[in-house]
Amino acid sequence: MFTLPTDLLALHETRLKALHAPRQEEALKALATLDPADPQSVHATALALRPWKKGPFEFLDTRIDAEWDCRRKWQRLHKHLPDLSDKLVLDVGCGNGWYMQQLRQAGAREVIGFDPGQMNYLQWTFTQKIKPDPAQALYLLGVEELPALKKTFDVILHMGVLYHHRDPVMQLIDLRESLTPGGTLFLETIGVPGAQTTLYLPPDRYAGMPNVWFLPTLNALTTMLERARFTDIKVLSTHWDGVEEQRPTEWGPGPSYAGALDPSDPRKTIEGHPAPERFIVSARSKELR
Ligand SMILES: C[S@@+](CC[C@H](N)C(=O)[O-])C[C@H]1O[C@@H](n2cnc3c(N)ncnc32)[C@H](O)[C@@H]1O
Repeated sequence: MFTLPTDLLALHETRLKALHAPRQEEALKALATLDPADPQSVHATALALRPWKKGPFEFLDTRIDAEWDCRRKWQRLHKHLPDLSDKLVLDVGCGNGWYMQQLRQAGAREVIGFDPGQMNYLQWTFTQKIKPDPAQALYLLGVEELPALKKTFDVILHMGVLYHHRDPVMQLIDLRESLTPGGTLFLETIGVPGAQTTLYLPPDRYAGMPNVWFLPTLNALTTMLERARFTDIKVLSTHWDGVEEQRPTEWGPGPSYAGALDPSDPRKTIEGHPAPERFIVSARSKELR
């Protein structure tokens, strides 16, 4: 089984202690008293853990229809995955672990998730209390921790994270160096249309989000992967289902994708930027000779 280096484990444990902030009190109280066999207790705990951004999940009588219908992205991705039965997989920015569950169901030997989001961690803990899986572990860590994990993972998923960070090429280099020789990265990102090799740089908010630093064209994305010395770069998907894939629900309420678009022209965001496309690419680290 995978074990974290002790300094990363200490960082995870420090962040775990911060979960006990008053903001998480209701969620923690519900988790502490959860009876995984009692439908009412499961339902009440799931409610206390809202908002559910990623799903859907089904637990006893409770069906959690999250803001994102992740089945659509999984459908675009899973047919390209290799045989995972002997693979250690990392999902960086794994959210509440929805894709970790799919990876295990698809046969992955072991799945590690990194995500610093506190509510994501609590939701994953809830799913584990209901159906424990010793071959999964989620840590309150981020992509920044990868330099401490060289040549470790056979497969890495890195989805919806690249554009939230300021240094995309360095992030790609860190991802490549964390792969075992010949290992595969599956990367998903928002991007902009166009045949140029350019990054679109919103000067401020993008689709309502304050933390989007750039959006690549597809050519810019593959060029960055080349510059980060990946090999065997393949474009797997260039579309997504927009408002059918990301929409407000009872379990994941609040502003969602439709509200981020210009009501008079859905090809634009509310700020007037090009609306996002979504790209999925795969790329491999070089085999050792
Ligand atoms: C847009 S969501 C994508 C979630 C999931 N990977 C997916 O594709 O649906 C971005 C995720 O990255 C997480 N995140 C934020 N900072 C991060 C970091 N420094 N390293 C890794 N993940 C981070 C967030 O908590 C959030 O769950």
